[in-house]
Amino acid sequence: MENKCIMQVEHLTKVFTSGIIAGEKTVAVKDVSFKMDQGKVISLIGESGSGKTTIGRIILKLLKPTEGKLYYNGEDITNINSKQEKKEYYKKVQAIFQDPFSSFNPLFRIDRIFNMVFSSFMKDVKDRKTLIEQSLESVNLNPKRILNKFPHQLSGGQLQRLLIARALLLDVDILIADELISMLDASTRIGVLNLLVELCKKNGMTVLFITHDLNLGYYISDTTLIMYKGRLVERGDTKKIYKNPVHPYTKMLFESVPEIGNKWDKEELFLPETVIQDVKKFYQTNSEQGFKEVEPDHMVLFSD
Ligand SMILES: Nc1ncnc2c1ncn2[C@@H]1O[C@H](COP(=O)(O)OP(=O)(O)O)[C@@H](O)[C@H]1O
Ligand SMILES: [Mg+2]
Repeated sequence: MENKCIMQVEHLTKVFTSGIIAGEKTVAVKDVSFKMDQGKVISLIGESGSGKTTIGRIILKLLKPTEGKLYYNGEDITNINSKQEKKEYYKKVQAIFQDPFSSFNPLFRIDRIFNMVFSSFMKDVKDRKTLIEQSLESVNLNPKRILNKFPHQLSGGQLQRLLIARALLLDVDILIADELISMLDASTRIGVLNLLVELCKKNGMTVLFITHDLNLGYYISDTTLIMYKGRLVERGDTKKIYKNPVHPYTKMLFESVPEIGNKWDKEELFLPETVIQDVKKFYQTNSEQGFKEVEPDHMVLFSD
């Protein structure tokens, strides 16, 4: 089957200016380009602070890029801004954030939250009840047990499944999952991940899976994007990158991955000084420049 590009970001840059002390600047994302094909899982991997969430928020139109373009289905959506245009966009592009509790109004029962999907996005749909039940069943939740509950009565795993069900109900094209399962325990994680991949393949949904965990990225994705300090440093077919990592930061990630299912210790998120030195040396000593193909569907950044 021909790959159909559903989302493309071109030369994205985001500079934050914090105005408190004379406008200190943070370059959160610098010149990042990639494509997302329909029905694929794309993982965006990098250490804390590397710019992953910023990219997710730009795609979700929650942040304006400082530079660069965003194309959805071939259409330039960088500057869409009106309420109506955004609403149309959110019918097709949705997110699951790290903390599932913050995604639901704590005062509403689940049935009300799900019915609101219709009043906000799909007013004309008649048989709401059946559609809601189907979406819950497909994420292995029992509608009878879930619909009359409040969010705080459900576990983190159940809430994340609910978010996936909501995306299915909307029949979204793109789901952005930012550190989706980092709050869940090991046994629940694999279940939610498998479910996500399965539904993605079945429904032709594209998932941008944002994680700091290389192992999860490998487990879940067709395409891998590796971020380092705001730059996309390696990009391409997941198997190729894992078999033949070229950028020193990617190599370092392979040397320090914990077993799948284990939580990554927060303390370990800081970059060792040796890595920073290795990356500098790599940029200075190799003879290539810029973002270059090292084999088909495998690109590497050779200079900063
Ligand atoms: N609203 C903001 N204002 C200022 N700086 C920000 C803001 N959001 C993120 N940053 C900074 O941008 C960088 C990238 O952050 P982020 O995209 O959250 O990284 P990640 O998701 O990979 O951990 C960090 O240095 C972070 O402190
Ligand atoms: Mg983040």
